[in-house]
Amino acid sequence: MGNKVNGNLRSFEIAPSILSADFTRLFEAIRDVREGGATVLHVDVMDGHFVPNITIGLPVVKSLRAATDMTIDTHLMITEPGRYAVEFVKAGADMVSVHVEADVHLQRTLVAIREAGAKAGIAINPGTPLVLLEEAMPYADFILLMSVNPGFGGQKFVPTSLDKLRRLRQMIEDRGLTTRIEIDGGVDASNIAEVCEAGAEIIVAGSAVFGGGRPTEAVRELIDRATVWV
Ligand code: DX5
Ligand code: ZN
Repeated sequence: MGNKVNGNLRSFEIAPSILSADFTRLFEAIRDVREGGATVLHVDVMDGHFVPNITIGLPVVKSLRAATDMTIDTHLMITEPGRYAVEFVKAGADMVSVHVEADVHLQRTLVAIREAGAKAGIAINPGTPLVLLEEAMPYADFILLMSVNPGFGGQKFVPTSLDKLRRLRQMIEDRGLTTRIEIDGGVDASNIAEVCEAGAEIIVAGSAVFGGGRPTEAVRELIDRATVWV
């Protein structure tokens, strides 16, 4: 499409994180973000071991599946994610990401997620070097680059994440892979254009979407600012 000084309009997807929504009104939350143009629903699964917080799990994913046709993206912040990853696919997840820091059998888990019929992702914390992704990357459909230390919504974007994002994009291009990049944590209307320019394609936003009480408008604004020429 298009061209603004011979550029291409890269397509971005906004993935609202329901962690910042009101859990007693999830149906309205989904309807609102969808109306704003969001295509992916980001579901943060935390076990109180890998991260210092406990959130939601399989039964909620199952209910979400019955309630929406949006892409369900489950971010597993749990120890031994290989024990549960396929269960999340069976519950209805379209995308499942597991942390490189949490899985000593990462390649096997990624293959299992794909075989079960979902997109497989590797999540990586701000302090973990990209080199740890190298061997498993060909088995991943996407990389979930954390731009905060996982555990809570509403944290500040870790500034070094922008440079890490650019290096990850380069790593993927150098290897001739088509791996997509998802960014997660501290993204809002003030920095979304930068993260898109740096190479992110799926943008998670929790507090920026649900924090102000007008999720539909918030998603629209993010989409508006995310559409950059690269
Ligand atoms: C953090 C979660 C994020 C979080 C994003 O552990 O993985 O998905 O909900 O929330 P914001 O956008 O508020 O940083
Ligand atoms: Zn997340």
